[in-house]
Amino acid sequence: MNEDIIIQLIGEAIQARENSYAPYSGYCVGAALLCSDGGIITGCNVENASYGATNCAERTAVFKAVSEGRKSFTAIAIAGGKEGAAELDYAYPCGVCRQVLREFCEPSAFIVIVCRSSTDYKIMTLEELLPCSFGPDNLK
Ligand code: THU
Repeated sequence: MNEDIIIQLIGEAIQARENSYAPYSGYCVGAALLCSDGGIITGCNVENASYGATNCAERTAVFKAVSEGRKSFTAIAIAGGKEGAAELDYAYPCGVCRQVLREFCEPSAFIVIVCRSSTDYKIMTLEELLPCSFGPDNLK
């Protein structure tokens, strides 16, 4: 994957994290989803006093994109860490977010970037994170 695009996605994810609403966990996450048309859709986690109603950053980005008519994606960058901490984590997507990404992305081709900064990140495919997955084709 083009390194300029990776750096751009990481920057957008870190910026999106600024909007995180995480008063309960204090764990702030931002995501930047690269669409096949080259557009970038961002998202953050949005928590709720009824904890189960919380939405993760990755799903916020996917749902925003789909609701705006985009359903084909090539990569996502994720930036997460405790509010006020000196450094970000490598914030791997939770199981539910992996499955939501699976709905719209080709597992062997879709790239997941977990980043601590624009120079400190890890890259893997969705297939590595969610092997032997269940997807839309199973219902055809
Ligand atoms: N969170 C995400 O935004 N993405 C993930 O993949 C893992 C968890 C959020 C949800 C919640 O607001 C906080 O991190 C702590 O679980």
